[in-house]
Amino acid sequence: MNANSLKEGLTTKYLGREIIYLEQLDSTNLMAKSLMQESNLEEGTIVIASQQNLGKGTDGNVWVSDIGNLYLSVIFSYSEKVNTLFPLYPAVAIAKVLKEHYHIDAHVKWPNDVLVASKKIAGILCEGDAGRFMVMGIGINVLQTAFKGELQNIATSIQQQRKEDIKLEEVFQKFLLEYEALYYGDCNIRQEWLSITKMIGKEISISQDGKVSKVKVVGMNEDGFLQVQDSKGDISSLMARRGLDISTNYS
Ligand code: BTN
Repeated sequence: MNANSLKEGLTTKYLGREIIYLEQLDSTNLMAKSLMQESNLEEGTIVIASQQNLGKGTDGNVWVSDIGNLYLSVIFSYSEKVNTLFPLYPAVAIAKVLKEHYHIDAHVKWPNDVLVASKKIAGILCEGDAGRFMVMGIGINVLQTAFKGELQNIATSIQQQRKEDIKLEEVFQKFLLEYEALYYGDCNIRQEWLSITKMIGKEISISQDGKVSKVKVVGMNEDGFLQVQDSKGDISSLMARRGLDISTNYS
C-alpha cells in the first residue's frame, strides 16, 4: 500500500483528492489534527497509515493497529452537517460495502460500530476542534487473520469472513465512494442507519455511571439518540457519550 496504489482508479470527487500516506505513525487522528493546527488542509484530505503505534479507540481505549488493515482519518471542515448524525455516515458506508460487495452480513451497533454477528469489524473515532474542523478516524479490519487474547472473541476482519483474495486498496476505494455518496448526496442517514442495524426490538444492557440496566431498543430519533424502553414501559433517549457502554447479545 502506498499513496499511488490508494489513488489509482479512485473515482471519488471530494474524499481522497489529497492522500497523505505514511508507513507507520502514532495515530492518523493525532497526525490529522496536528496538520490542521499548522495549516488548513482541504475537506476530504485523508491521512492513512499501514500501521499505528498508538491507535486510538473510543473511551480512551487502544485500537490495536498491526499491518494489514485500514487506518485512516478524513478531514472535514466545520459546517451545519457536523451534528450528532455526522459520525453515523462512515459506519453505514462500511456496513453497506461489506454487505453489497463482500456478501458479509454486517450491521451497525449504535452509534457507529460495525459488527459481523457480535464481533467488531470496524470502528469510528470522530474528533475535532470546535468550530474549525473535524477528523473522522476510521479503522477497518481487512486482512488480519488472527487476533490476540481477548480480541479473538470480540473482533473479526473481512479476510476472516471471506476466504478469497481481498485487496486493501479495493476496500479503501469502495468505502470512500459509498461514504461520499451518502455524505454529499441527499440520503436520510437516520433511515439508512435504521435499515442496516439489527438493534431495533432487541434487549440490550446499558451501563451508565456504574449502573447497569436492561432495556429494549425501540428506535433512534432525528438527532441520532437511541430510544429505549424500560420494564415499566417508559421510553427515554440515550445520547452517545463517554462512559456509556452498551452490550448486546444478538447477532
Ligand atoms: C473504536 O474504538 O471503535 C474506534 C476506533 C477508531 C480507530 C481508528 S484507526 C484510524 C484512526 N486513528 C486512530 O488513532 N483511531 C482511528
